[in-house]
Amino acid sequence: MREGQNAVIHRADYRPPAFWIDSVELCFDLDPVKTRVLNRMRLRRNPDQPAQALRLDGEELNLARVLVNGQGTSFKLEDSQLILENLPEGNAPFELEVFTTCAPAKNTKLMGLYVSNDSFFTQCEAEGFRRITYFLDRPDVMASYNVTLRADKAAYPVLLSNGNLVEQGDLDGGRHFARWVDPHRKPCYLFALVAGKLVAREQRITTASGADHLLQVYVRPGDLDKTEHAMNSLMASIAWDEGRFKLPLDLERFMIVATSDFNMGAMENKGLNIFNTKYVLASQATATDTDYANIESVVGHEYFHNWTGNRVTCRDWFQLSLKEGLTVFRDQEFSQDLAGEASARAVRRIEDVRVLRTAQFPEDAGPMAHPVRPDQYLEINNFYTVTIYEKGAEVVRMMQTLVAGEGDPLGRAGFARGMALYFERHDGQAVTCDDFAQAIADANPGSPLARLLPQFKRWYSQAGTPRLKARSHWDAATGTYSLALSQSCTPTPGQPHKDPFVIPVRLGLLDAEGRQISDGLHVLTEDSDTLTMSGLAGEPVPSILRGFTAPVILEYDYTDAQLLILLAHDTDPFNRWEAAQRLAIHRALHFIRSGEHVELDAPFVEAMRAVLRHPTLDSAFKDLVLTLPSETYLAEQLDEVDPQRIHAVREAMRMGLATALRHDWEWVYEQNKDTGAYRPDSRSAGRRALAGMALTHLCLAARTSGDPVWPGKTLQRFKDAGNMTDRFNALAALVACGHELAAPALASFHALFKNEALVLDKWFALQAGAPDHGGNILPVVKQLMQHPDFNLRNPNRARSLIFSYCSANPGGFHRRDAAGYVFWCERVMELDAINPQVAARLARALDRWKKLADPYRGAAREAIARVAAKPDLSRDVREVVTRALA
Ligand code: ARG
Ligand code: ZN
Repeated sequence: MREGQNAVIHRADYRPPAFWIDSVELCFDLDPVKTRVLNRMRLRRNPDQPAQALRLDGEELNLARVLVNGQGTSFKLEDSQLILENLPEGNAPFELEVFTTCAPAKNTKLMGLYVSNDSFFTQCEAEGFRRITYFLDRPDVMASYNVTLRADKAAYPVLLSNGNLVEQGDLDGGRHFARWVDPHRKPCYLFALVAGKLVAREQRITTASGADHLLQVYVRPGDLDKTEHAMNSLMASIAWDEGRFKLPLDLERFMIVATSDFNMGAMENKGLNIFNTKYVLASQATATDTDYANIESVVGHEYFHNWTGNRVTCRDWFQLSLKEGLTVFRDQEFSQDLAGEASARAVRRIEDVRVLRTAQFPEDAGPMAHPVRPDQYLEINNFYTVTIYEKGAEVVRMMQTLVAGEGDPLGRAGFARGMALYFERHDGQAVTCDDFAQAIADANPGSPLARLLPQFKRWYSQAGTPRLKARSHWDAATGTYSLALSQSCTPTPGQPHKDPFVIPVRLGLLDAEGRQISDGLHVLTEDSDTLTMSGLAGEPVPSILRGFTAPVILEYDYTDAQLLILLAHDTDPFNRWEAAQRLAIHRALHFIRSGEHVELDAPFVEAMRAVLRHPTLDSAFKDLVLTLPSETYLAEQLDEVDPQRIHAVREAMRMGLATALRHDWEWVYEQNKDTGAYRPDSRSAGRRALAGMALTHLCLAARTSGDPVWPGKTLQRFKDAGNMTDRFNALAALVACGHELAAPALASFHALFKNEALVLDKWFALQAGAPDHGGNILPVVKQLMQHPDFNLRNPNRARSLIFSYCSANPGGFHRRDAAGYVFWCERVMELDAINPQVAARLARALDRWKKLADPYRGAAREAIARVAAKPDLSRDVREVVTRALA
């Protein structure tokens, strides 16, 4: 029993394949309307499995011919499977030839083989290969590939696939061919081909081990001048993996190809990574510092998959975090190592935690909650989530923390030993999350991880964000301080009861003057536990969960006085930032709940001023501290959510900081506005970010005072800017305060960049994500849907307009008249007919509807029910809305 449109797939049902595919010879005759695919496979029965029929997966294929050992054979087509029952008995290999055609130009799902800007691209993970040919489309079937591409030479001068180019030449009728052989066996989700008019930046390198390699970054002809940063990032990635993990590049040629139609960020196909242009193309005129940083991390991520994902892959898709959590952890470490100084590393860490809290914590608390290693799914594409990726990375990070030892305080050496053992044991295999955890533990006998492994692995099996409660007691008479820690985790769908997690808690104690008294790692394994310290001169201030050592919600009743000490003195930069966040959250929640008029108190304002004026703190850190917690994060702190109230309070607090700190913002702007010749390094990027933040606040302050000076200066900066970061920040400042200069600036921005797709995405996103003033955003969004540059079929463009509004602008989206939800519902249904994967992402914008106050709640429910009632809904969207309504 398999598949069908409604079949839920269970992890417990895993069975090894009944057949192995040892090698594949693929021959493509590329044509946008009708591509012919000749697939010759060598198969054999898996002797460890009972004899049974061969069932090959296939989707939207036209089958023309099936031959077994060169002879015609009987077959059945059932539920997207090609079933062969009369195969040779015994374990001898046999040859199976399948000839099919498909229609790449009609492929709007962007899975399998598709056309984008007149070039061919593929996306096979997770189950796209079955849209190219009939196959055992599962990651534990690994084969050798020999691929021939044939196409019109003028239209498709470049023909690429995985591995090494072994032969190429001309054919009759203006066609040509190229033959590629991949020296590494791989699962079919790592197959790729590209054909089109592309050009490459090339770089030859000799790695530390002395091997020579050719690196190429392929883009459309006009984009070559935007590939330098991607190439630099690739070289840095190669050097980093060799340096930190002793993992070399195992290919003569490593290619990255950019496409502007792509469902996700990028894909780690063996030797032929295919990227969304967003994560390749950058020039100082068109890309922001954030874009530069994202390119560095995504190039790193895909490159690191070459070992964690490709050399060792997943046994089944329930193990997705085996490669994704681990590879996110690796790209986070890479970005931190490249950032350099401790303070710049800390900024990266804070940014990563912010993503976790604003996106993953809500997922863990909502209808789509699932463990890092899920137990079931309807559509695997719905499980490329922040839980699998970001929480998965936190689980790996905790392993590193839990193998720390003498001379290895962070666990880096111990973790690297574990990685070495993992590859020693599993290179070339398709394995499980258990295999990974076991290797890290076995390489570190005696470590807390090794001692606690079975319990630690609950992080893989139990969904939900644990709550860590701390309560302190001070006995002045004996100088004894105790901290009682306890943990709990609320039920998630299908998991009513949770067993205690292993929670590493790094804890520091400060005295009343802010001097550090102690610092150490405590591992909570029980429901509760009490730490006691004696001989103290006065009551200490606890700095709990330093560096965010575990992905938990920490509850401790900090007083303002304690938070102010931590903000001023904590040597742990993460908790220093966290103290400011808590100060802001206390205030925001108070105003949201009480309905009182927002007025910021002097101690809070003075603390923020002290940070802004601080002589040694990094600009990037100041920017993070002065950024108020997001509306989404604030909503998570409440049992009942009134999105308009949250929006109004947060905006009022921002206005409060703008006016109260006006002179400080001016000073900060002057200090940070000039960063010299553009370089995307973290220090100067931090200065640009803070200068931009200052401008936003100065424009906001001008809104109440009516003073035209700062909006005027901001417009001037917009015009004069020497890089996209400064230009965009100035534009965003005018848009954020709703100034009348915003409209002409937006028009001139569009005119300047009308031929730069990625910049137009920013233009759409900025308007759709702007702060809502009296319901003004939805009409703008609807109007932009009609703009000649809008195109629903292009995922980047759809995301820039529709997602920026529905998923990233709660104040604009949650309207009392429900018009935002009606818009959402229509777009989900419209997108579903084009691209179910993208539609299902949008469908998740209302995940947290049950928390909403009325009238939002009822209206949201109705909108979701309307989507759910649509006939022919894709499996992707159906899974999301069914779970939301459950
Ligand atoms: N493995 C890719 C990554 O680097 C993600 C590919 C997901 N694609 C998809 N259609 N689900 O993270
Ligand atoms: Zn990945």
